[in-house]
Amino acid sequence: MAKKKDENGPVDAHGDHRFPPPAEFKKAARVSDESIYERAAADPQAFWAGFAEELRWETPWKEVHTFDPPDAKWFIGGKLNACVNCVDRHIEGPHRNKAALIWEGEPGEKKTWTYFDLYREVNRFGNVLRKLGIKKGDRVAIYLPMMLESVAAMLACARVGAVHSVVFGGFSSESLRDRILDADAHLLITADGGFRRGKVLALKEAADAAVEGCACIENVLVIQRGIPGHECSMKEGRDHWYHDLADQVDAWCEPEVMDSEDPLFILYTSGTTGKPKGIVHTTGGYLTGTYATTRVVFDLKDDDVYWCTADIGWVTGHSYIVYGPLAAAATQIIYEGAPDAPDRGRFWRICERYGVTVFYTAPTAIRAFMKWGDDWPAGADLSRLRLLGSVGEPINPEAWLWYHEHIGSGRCPIVDTWWQTETGQILITPLPGVTVTKPGSAAKAFPGVDVEILSDEGEKIDGETGLLAIRGSWPAMTRGIWGDRQRFIETYWSKWEGIYFPGDGAKRDEDGFFWVIGRVDDVINVAGHRLGTAEVESALVEHASVAESAVVGIPHEIKGTAVAAFVTVREGFETGDELAGELKAHVAEKIGAIARPESIIFAADLPKTRSGKIMRRLLRDIAEGKALGDTTTLADPSVVESLKSQYDDEA
Ligand code: WT7
Repeated sequence: MAKKKDENGPVDAHGDHRFPPPAEFKKAARVSDESIYERAAADPQAFWAGFAEELRWETPWKEVHTFDPPDAKWFIGGKLNACVNCVDRHIEGPHRNKAALIWEGEPGEKKTWTYFDLYREVNRFGNVLRKLGIKKGDRVAIYLPMMLESVAAMLACARVGAVHSVVFGGFSSESLRDRILDADAHLLITADGGFRRGKVLALKEAADAAVEGCACIENVLVIQRGIPGHECSMKEGRDHWYHDLADQVDAWCEPEVMDSEDPLFILYTSGTTGKPKGIVHTTGGYLTGTYATTRVVFDLKDDDVYWCTADIGWVTGHSYIVYGPLAAAATQIIYEGAPDAPDRGRFWRICERYGVTVFYTAPTAIRAFMKWGDDWPAGADLSRLRLLGSVGEPINPEAWLWYHEHIGSGRCPIVDTWWQTETGQILITPLPGVTVTKPGSAAKAFPGVDVEILSDEGEKIDGETGLLAIRGSWPAMTRGIWGDRQRFIETYWSKWEGIYFPGDGAKRDEDGFFWVIGRVDDVINVAGHRLGTAEVESALVEHASVAESAVVGIPHEIKGTAVAAFVTVREGFETGDELAGELKAHVAEKIGAIARPESIIFAADLPKTRSGKIMRRLLRDIAEGKALGDTTTLADPSVVESLKSQYDDEA
């Protein structure tokens, strides 16, 4: 039973808390009893098809699903257009003038687009893409801040059958260039800039630098954010203002009829090697999976005001800002900037101003809010909130309980949703009207999804930590890595026969609840963002001073995990704060600010096994200041001792 504060004093995070759905929530919930699990398990194909039937298909599918690991197909033979489903479908009925997107710029501008506005915009935008020669199957790179037009840009690609590849606006020009080249994109869509904590993001400049080395880019389309006093240069013949072209095109853009298995987008994510992988998602299954989970997990109803605080540059923005919620005709908030601009109450004033009812954010943000103090949320009217969500990394019980009490006033269920860029849709989550939640656990597999815990050898593990494993397939599952079939098979399908390996460690408790521990590979999760340690290492060794480096994740109060980099320097370079600062800036410039190391640890040598593998576990222990484990497999044991004492001195 939920412990009420007044009965038991303040809740402590280590207690055995259970939070049943509040009666009022349960009464009105779309799904309020367990039978959905049985129904889905009895006939998963019929379960998913039920959601697909709520979408618009130009041609019905012939077969729901085939799975020949690793190849899944969903709604085979079906034809549809994702943009039509997210926009056109809604303007024919009562939603025509419903607010689709409510935007606030960081400096305070406000703009709302109804579904009819969005419809007009995606039509114009689609025609602009066609005018620039974009056709079905072409790749379009998108490098934008959080604007209404960013959503329109993605949907316009879908409308004309182009495959979008959104690159987070915080990534460096080099990261953008790598992604443009890998996808062989013909067009880049960017903006003159955006605001972040009062500063102007010079996106166009970064875009120019990126495109410098890209022969594949024919045109750059620039959306005007409008920044007083900020000019950006336009290259004759290559760069075009979006508003100029939009004035010249027709109001109607015929949508391309897409096969259910035609690619909808590519989204790059970090892996265990230095090179990010382009995760491919297709049309029918992806749309069905995100639509179904939006409905069921966020319990979205017609009068909800939904706010997912993610950026469209991440999969959360794709699935739970653009495709799922718009397919569900939701009203949602898009906010451009930082949560602490101009002060730490910004998010809560937005919730109050628009009467946000469903709020979805990341544990790293929740931990920052906690640190900033209870007064900020207490100062706003959050009484309309009815459901809270969390995503991106394990949520620690302290943060869960704070979120529940200070944002949700003890009244809102929390859905801790586990999924990945590759899974496309939420796979493990409570159902807010059904599940008795436990802080820190993502609860159970979504209906129709088969998750278990396996050992390396594929044996079932109960009650102890093992590896998360997903059997069968689900509609929004990735169909592969762009241009790299082998890597797709090796990364996800080689651990066990025909079972998907997501790369996470987890355990299942006596109630069948999943507790996700985190990555078991050389991927770290920094403030909810995935980063390959190898990516940071290769950025570091590109600096003239660095001979060798090893990067590990260390616990961090707000970010969950932070980057710690062990570095050996070349002859003639002086180690110290100055070089450390330079290296941090170098990594941020090479990859993006999210990759900036928290600490640089200079070492005379890096501890290696006899076979030459860097001993990361040991480095993690050193970086965390822990006692050393067994070091006998080291090629040179003295290395570790000197490392350890040096680190202790610095700490
Ligand atoms: C990795 C996927 C899913 C969108 C954002 C991140 C971790 C994600 C949870 C959660 C514990 C979580 C996993 C996963 N993760 N959500 N609720 N509890 N861990 O997408 O960048 O593809 O990262 O994030 O480690 O593998 P991503």
